[in-house]
Amino acid sequence: MTEIKTIGVVGAGQMGRGIAQVAAMTNFNVLVFDISEEGLKFGMDFITKQLNRGVEKGKWDESFVSETQSRLTGVTDINALKDCDLLIEAATENKKIKFEIFKQLDEVAKDGAILATNTSSISITEIAAVTKRPEAVAGMHFMNPVPVMKLVETITGLETNKDTIDTVEAVAEKMGKTVVRADDVAGFAVNRILMPMINEAFYTLFEGVADAKGIDNAMKLGCNQPMGPFELADFIGLDTCLAIMEVLHEGLGDTKYRPCPLLKKYVTAGRFGRKVGKGVYEY
Ligand code: CAA
Repeated sequence: MTEIKTIGVVGAGQMGRGIAQVAAMTNFNVLVFDISEEGLKFGMDFITKQLNRGVEKGKWDESFVSETQSRLTGVTDINALKDCDLLIEAATENKKIKFEIFKQLDEVAKDGAILATNTSSISITEIAAVTKRPEAVAGMHFMNPVPVMKLVETITGLETNKDTIDTVEAVAEKMGKTVVRADDVAGFAVNRILMPMINEAFYTLFEGVADAKGIDNAMKLGCNQPMGPFELADFIGLDTCLAIMEVLHEGLGDTKYRPCPLLKKYVTAGRFGRKVGKGVYEY
């Protein structure tokens, strides 16, 4: 297995900052890269707040916070990632953006470095194909909020070799996560099941079966889900939910995966969820 000491996280957004926080907390040296100074600062400040909140709650002490922070560095120059042993990309869920990032990472990363993607649905085989090292590319799909959720879904592309998948799984386990391995088929395991449920909730609302609060309460109180489907969709981001439904629809070709027109309408209106202050609900 490849020895991993330094991890580069690409993107300081919702997922990237969570991955970076947990990696630093579990003794990896972490470089967090974002193209935007502002985005990077927001992400790094968020991590500091989360770490300090842990002290207030008595989960760890201040020396743990300073040790964790000493392992975290924010960068806006992608070349700074050249010595990382593993790169975990957590950028926007958009094929064009991810392909461009992987081309750049392949140029910048040292020989022997592993490239992982936190994509929630885009084909690992396709992402790997834009690089000259498809055998060293794998999926590492973390769940939101990363510090809380126990799962990492790992995905093997067609060319992913055993060392690569074994290494990313060992890293996920060292980060305190439980691994479920999935094949490279649209949506993998989690979103193949989760997104059609959320999409069906939109159809249920669209057809007037019940109102949004009612549907959320039905699933929370009737099925013990911690969040109702609309609370969860707002939390994930409606734009991300729509992007994943489109990947399922296109990749699996079955009309049962067609995105609900109401979900599309919310996204067209810019109601992306919590991150913009309004989605199905207003915050
Ligand atoms: N970041 C870090 N920690 C967070 C957090 C965040 N954004 N939000 C909550 N937490 C922590 C809290 O600090 C708290 O920790 P302690 O118990 O150690 O004090 C714990 O989570 C519980 O938080 P709360 O008591 O404030 O709130 P809650 O009990 O309502 O739980 C929740 C919040 C954990 C988010 C819970 O509602 C939940 O599990 N929701 C479902 C989340 C889910 O399904 N995620 C997967 C989404 S799918 C995905 O990510 C993949 C994809 O591809 C789309």
